[in-house]
Amino acid sequence: MPPLKERVLNEFTARFGERPSHIVRAPGRVNLIGEHTDYNDGFVLPMAIDRTIWIALRPRSDRRVMLHSLDLQPAADFSLDNLKHSEGGWTEYVKGMAWALQGANLALRGWEGVSAGDIPVGAGLSSSAALELAVARAFAAVSGFTWEPAQMARLAQLAENKWVGVNCGIMDQMISAAGKAGHALLIDCRTLDTTLAPLPPGTAVVIMDTATRRGLVDSAYNERRSQCETAARFFAVPALRDVSLETFAAHAAELDDLTRQRARHVISENQRTLDAMTAMRQYDANSLGQLINASHASLRDDFAVSSLELNQIVDCAQRQTDACFGARMTGAGFGGCAVALVQDSSAQAFAAAVAACYQAASGLQPNIYICQPADGASEE
Ligand code: GLA
Repeated sequence: MPPLKERVLNEFTARFGERPSHIVRAPGRVNLIGEHTDYNDGFVLPMAIDRTIWIALRPRSDRRVMLHSLDLQPAADFSLDNLKHSEGGWTEYVKGMAWALQGANLALRGWEGVSAGDIPVGAGLSSSAALELAVARAFAAVSGFTWEPAQMARLAQLAENKWVGVNCGIMDQMISAAGKAGHALLIDCRTLDTTLAPLPPGTAVVIMDTATRRGLVDSAYNERRSQCETAARFFAVPALRDVSLETFAAHAAELDDLTRQRARHVISENQRTLDAMTAMRQYDANSLGQLINASHASLRDDFAVSSLELNQIVDCAQRQTDACFGARMTGAGFGGCAVALVQDSSAQAFAAAVAACYQAASGLQPNIYICQPADGASEE
C-alpha cells in the first residue's frame, strides 16, 4: 500500500474509531510542453505525477463537511447550507469545490475525513488542483454522482477562478482529473479532448525544483493573459489558438514589440506542442528534447516568465548531453520547477550532476525527483 494511503487510513481509524468507507486520491502534475497556451484555447502536454493528495472519509448524516489535514492547519469545517469565505488558506479550496459542485446542481452529502499529501506547495506542481480534484472525488464518493473528468476539471477551475480568486487556465485541473499512468496527455484546451502520449521507451521525466518561490506571480500571470487577449483582438479571432504561424508571420510587423513577442511565444508553442505529440507517437526522444529546449528559450526570451534560477537549472540540465534530451522551465514560471527528459538508465547520475551544478551556480540546494506518470483522480 502507498505510504500516504496507509497514513490517512491509520489516522482516520484512530480519529473515528472505524475504517473509512472511502479512500480517494488526486495527483499533482508536471507539464512537458505547451506552457501558457491553455488560456489561449491551445494545446498542452502534461502528465500526472506520483505525488498525490489522499483523503480517507465517511459520509455524515447531516450537511457538514469536516476535513483534517495532516499537513495544514486549521481543519476545514463548514455546512453545505452556509458557504462563506473566511481568512483564506487551504480550506478555501475545499469550500470552493463544494460551492462549484452545488452550483452545477449536484446534490451533495456531508462527510468527514483526513487528508495528507506529498506535493510541495507553491512549487508549480499543482498542489491546489490536486486538492480540488481530491475533494471533488470525495464528494462523488459519498454523494453518488457520476465522475466525468472534464466536467470535474471545469468545476475545479471555476472554484479556483471565482471562489479562491486565482485566474488560472484549465490544464492543471484537467490533468489531475484525467491523467493516465505511463503516459502524458495531449489536451485540447478548447474542447478538452485528450489523446494519450506515451513517453519514449528508455526515457524518464525529472523534475528539478529550484527552491525559489516568487511572489507577484498572479499579477504577472494576469498581465500575460491580457497581452494575449490584445493580440487575439488584433487578429480578430476568439483566441491565439486560431492564428497560424503563417498568418502571424504575415502581420507580425504591425504589432507593437511586446504584443508581438507574447503572441510569438503562444503561437509557436502551440505548434511545438503538436510537434511534440508527433515525436512521442514516433518514440523520437531526440526531437521531443529539442522541442522542449526551444520551449524554454521562447518562455525566457519572448514570454519573459523565466527567472535567473530557472535559467541556471535548465542550463545545468542541458549541459548533461549524455543523459539529457531536453529541459525547460515548467508551470507558470518566475520560480518553482523545471523539467527534463532524460535517458532512464542515467537518471540518477543526471540528478546528482544537476544538483551539484545548480548549487555551484546559485548557492541553493535544489530538490530533484525522478517521477512516474500516474493516473488521474480515483477512488482506491
Ligand atoms: C499555471 C496555471 C495553468 C497554466 C500554467 C502555464 O500552472 O494554473 O492554467 O496557465 O500556469 O502554462
